[in-house]
Amino acid sequence: LFAGNTEFLKGVVAMDGLPPPDRLEVCFAGRSNVGKSTLINALTGRKGLARASNTPGRTQEINYFTTLNGPYLVDLPGYGYANAPLPVVEKWQRLLKNYLSGRQTLRRAFVLIDARHGVKDVDEEILKLLDRSAVTFQVVMTKLDKVKDKDRTKVLEQVRKAISKHPAAYPELVLTSSEKGEGIPILRSIIADLV
Ligand code: GTP
Ligand code: MG
Repeated sequence: LFAGNTEFLKGVVAMDGLPPPDRLEVCFAGRSNVGKSTLINALTGRKGLARASNTPGRTQEINYFTTLNGPYLVDLPGYGYANAPLPVVEKWQRLLKNYLSGRQTLRRAFVLIDARHGVKDVDEEILKLLDRSAVTFQVVMTKLDKVKDKDRTKVLEQVRKAISKHPAAYPELVLTSSEKGEGIPILRSIIADLV
């Protein structure tokens, strides 16, 4: 599905710019800087495919990537913080919410949670939106390389407890480090199994 076959398709700034809903897609949502674009690069094995950066608010459009005979991979703008003027941020947040609540071909939303921080209030808002829209979501923990083994248990407990309240949650967490490659093969096979 992935190796060598992924391409950037388009960046979308409004709902009417979405590609025709002619195949399934999975999206990557999460707070700004959580590692969405980096995760897409790790999954596809192509470092510069999705633009990543240390500045929150890097991704400002809905970016579509194609896989060979597989779902679109959709890189979303982050929520929660962005280094951009408020009206601009509000515009992408509206787009993000419209997308998450109104895309028929969205098969699963991967919601990324930074392993150092756990589930925050802004994440809860998005999880509730996914419940209301009946979009199954699965939490992907990111940046595991930044958390010591002994500190993992506590954050994972917090996250499991938070998602247990959400009817749209898929209960199994995926633990990843794009830096070290941890969890990447598992996430690839989860995505491959969805189609
Ligand atoms: P926005 O587009 O702004 O919403 O951010 P994003 O979620 O796409 O984050 P991005 O992929 O741009 O990554 C943000 C920063 O986190 C970059 O400096 C990445 O190198 C870093 N990063 C991402 N994943 C990991 C990881 O697994 N481990 C470590 N150590 N750093 C990571
Ligand atoms: Mg990004």
